[in-house]
Amino acid sequence: MTAMTDSPTDSPIGKPADNPAGKPADNPAGKPAPEGRALSLAIGDRRRGRPEPSLDDPVFHISDLDVWYGDHQAVRDVTMTMGRRQITAMIGPSGCGKSTVIRCLNRMNDLIPGARVTGKVSYHGENLYDAEVDPIEVRRRIGMVFQKPNPFPKSVYDNIAYGPRVNGMKGNLDDLVEEALTSAALWDEVKDKLKSSALALSGGQQQRLCIARAIAVRPEVILMDEPCSALDPIATARIEDLMAELAADFTIVIVTHNMQQAARISDYTAFFTADVDTEGVRHGRLVEYDTTEKIFENPADRRTEDYITGRFG
Ligand SMILES: Nc1ncnc2c1ncn2[C@@H]1O[C@H](COP(=O)(O)OP(=O)(O)O)[C@@H](O)[C@H]1O
Ligand SMILES: [Mg+2]
Repeated sequence: MTAMTDSPTDSPIGKPADNPAGKPADNPAGKPAPEGRALSLAIGDRRRGRPEPSLDDPVFHISDLDVWYGDHQAVRDVTMTMGRRQITAMIGPSGCGKSTVIRCLNRMNDLIPGARVTGKVSYHGENLYDAEVDPIEVRRRIGMVFQKPNPFPKSVYDNIAYGPRVNGMKGNLDDLVEEALTSAALWDEVKDKLKSSALALSGGQQQRLCIARAIAVRPEVILMDEPCSALDPIATARIEDLMAELAADFTIVIVTHNMQQAARISDYTAFFTADVDTEGVRHGRLVEYDTTEKIFENPADRRTEDYITGRFG
């Protein structure tokens, strides 16, 4: 496939500034996380130092997307654009189709029997669902991290080296492993146990390992479906810091059930909900998509406002 041959090569656009101490609003223990990185409520907390949100350089354009599982239409009529090196958050109540939509971005729904996608998902202007597009190459360029950390039952080193080996990537594998682990803010913690089993790491470390594994094949986009749901607040804060750093180099799309997380870290937010039709069947739809600031401070749709103020969902 033509438009998928080159990797992002531009220089990083600057590191985010350190987070000042915030309010420990959703820290169950009520204590600030170490180094003052509490999980506060403030909009844009993790965005400090990043450029203004922008869709000037689109990566994905989704139009009239419908997704079916068998004869159940799970998602209806989604249209939205995601920008390069933006963090786009998808929020909304359970079952509204967030996972379904994010899986459309790297053709993971292909792997679900009975799933059918109509409409268009384009990636740098190329239809991801064109017959000649190779879904394996799509998933290399557009990596994914899941809710439950899922390292391979292999060593830390081999988890990272696996993708580059399979992809026949050139260069020194040791360097590649170190680079990926460093990018995922894990190197210092694992450099002395590269040969140990990845399954011996903590949950938060395992999730950063999965991020490192995704990075190791040099994708352009990292999709994350509730990457912090299985983590404690401290591990969550680390992943959030990491996402802010990664957004200097990668385009990130994250599903989160945690609105505060979306508010803290993302540039753009998409709010989904599920409509119930006359037969009582639920169909997910995109209600509102805008900058995170707009969605959380001045949403245009009453349903968005009800959701973010906790009246619904
Ligand atoms: N693999 C699947 N097979 C059949 N139905 C599915 C599958 N995954 C999701 N669904 C259905 O699609 C709808 C949207 O689900 P999902 O995308 O998982 O929502 P969310 O991530 O917002 O909770 C739900 O009705 C769910 O039951
Ligand atoms: Mg989901």
